[in-house]
Amino acid sequence: MEEQGVRPISISHSERAGRSRWTRSDFVLRMMLSLNGTASRVLLSVRGLSKSFGSVTALDGVDLDLREREILALVGDNGAGKSTLVSILAGVQQPDDGEILVEGRPVLIDGPKRAQELGIATVFQDLALVNQRDVAANLFLGREPVHFGLLVDRNRMVRDATEVIARLRVELPSVRALAGNLSGGQRQAVAVARAIMGGSRLLLMDEPTAALGVRESGRVVELMRELRAAGHSILLVSHNLESVFSLADRIAVLRLGRMVAASDIDKTTRDEVVGLIVGGRFTDR
Ligand SMILES: Nc1ncnc2c1ncn2[C@@H]1O[C@H](COP(=O)(O)OP(=O)(O)OP(=O)(O)O)[C@@H](O)[C@H]1O
Ligand SMILES: [Mg+2]
Repeated sequence: MEEQGVRPISISHSERAGRSRWTRSDFVLRMMLSLNGTASRVLLSVRGLSKSFGSVTALDGVDLDLREREILALVGDNGAGKSTLVSILAGVQQPDDGEILVEGRPVLIDGPKRAQELGIATVFQDLALVNQRDVAANLFLGREPVHFGLLVDRNRMVRDATEVIARLRVELPSVRALAGNLSGGQRQAVAVARAIMGGSRLLLMDEPTAALGVRESGRVVELMRELRAAGHSILLVSHNLESVFSLADRIAVLRLGRMVAASDIDKTTRDEVVGLIVGGRFTDR
């Protein structure tokens, strides 16, 4: 299986002609990694993933690896296909073509429940909270604790919800407040809390801090670091390159549905990434 992400920023096949420099460093890096054994295990892979909506090609033969204990940033312009990729991995949409592997085994993620079973939790860009239910109920949606295998254990839900909200240090009126009455930032914090409290090993976060205040964003960033240290892997979709460069281990760039580059974060620069996002060419580093 191709270890896509270990190479420095690499260009797509169509753009690769005549750029053997990248291929050579790619080879050297792989040799180094295989010799000293620092390449970590790939937990989630996509291969050749494609998805169209009518005449719009949202994803076009995308390859991506998410490794153990890493934060992989996925960046790209508006409409590049990031949320489509996240929603396919979350089981909300089905790809037209391609393969998804969890720990090397091909899987069919035919619904959100299957994603949950595979240990994949998601913070969606549009959040998907149920406005008519309160914070506690939203946190436990689809996995409510039960008494005697039958009755929902509401007290435990409120107790655990209060604890996780306190841990996130989010200002909420109460875990009994209706989600529909929360501010955009509070709703986003609830969505992040819901994703992390399931204990899933793989977290997909689509713009998790876009609507958060400075303090809450800082707390979510801190939490992502804690989760990585605790052994979780995070696919982080973000337009905030400053935060991506301070937080991520690797970065992948989508442009018009194609994966145009993947690199260790310390082997590229913001300028180079911006160039890739908007379709620029490489310059000498
Ligand atoms: N359900 C849908 N029906 C039709 N077109 C869609 C649908 N979902 C996505 N698209 C189209 O697919 C392309 C990729 O959209 P996607 O939401 O994945 O982009 P994105 O990279 O997440 O953008 P943003 O940064 O703005 O969130 C866009 O052209 C979009 O209009
Ligand atoms: Mg999106």
